[in-house]
Amino acid sequence: MLTIVKHPLIEVKLDIMRDENTKAKEFREALEEIASLMSFEVFKDIKTHETEEIIKTPTGIELHKHRLDKKIILAPILRAGIGMVDGVRKMIPTARTGHIGIFRDEETLLPHEYYFKLPKVENPLVVVIDPMLATGGSAIDAISAVKKRGYTDIRLMCLVGVPQGVKAVQTAHPDVNIYLASLDEKLNEKGYILPGLGDAGDRIFGTK
Ligand code: PRP
Ligand code: URA
Repeated sequence: MLTIVKHPLIEVKLDIMRDENTKAKEFREALEEIASLMSFEVFKDIKTHETEEIIKTPTGIELHKHRLDKKIILAPILRAGIGMVDGVRKMIPTARTGHIGIFRDEETLLPHEYYFKLPKVENPLVVVIDPMLATGGSAIDAISAVKKRGYTDIRLMCLVGVPQGVKAVQTAHPDVNIYLASLDEKLNEKGYILPGLGDAGDRIFGTK
């Protein structure tokens, strides 16, 4: 399933990120904020339960505190995925975070895994996070790496994708729901998303 998270606030912030004149600080802020906004959709179906813990309201009423039924693991793909993690964590402070190191060879566009560490949690929802879904190779490998470690409940949260990448992920991992803020048009000859926002990692970390 593909969900495009459409919201006027996301649309406006995405323009900031697409603008080539936007500096790294504003770029990072907009990315983090969009990640927070997208969280409402990505976690919309997670159920809660009432705990034994009691809270008392200023109006003198006692209520059972709610807790999410699911333990959440955020699994950003390095580097650019890091830029979305704090935005999601602000919404779910109890989420644990792992890291998946994958980079895309600039010539072949093929992904290479160089690091993998997820926290040990029983039966979690693992959200693989990366702002860019281009050929889909990185996301496919990241999800395969997560599955290889025995996790089964997995979602993919990206910012901008293209039909080619979405299709590739859906074919390789039909059980994984994909969330995007925007479905862009296509890739250019260098594998960059059009209109896109350039190299997300470079813009977040100021490496170019
Ligand atoms: C970018 C992006 C994705 C990947 C998407 O990372 O953050 O991980 O490319 O492309 P794909 O869908 O064609 O695989 P990159 O490989 O540039 O690594 P970086 O974050 O270290 O810059
Ligand atoms: N990775 C990026 O950072 N940007 C793109 O447009 C495609 C892949």
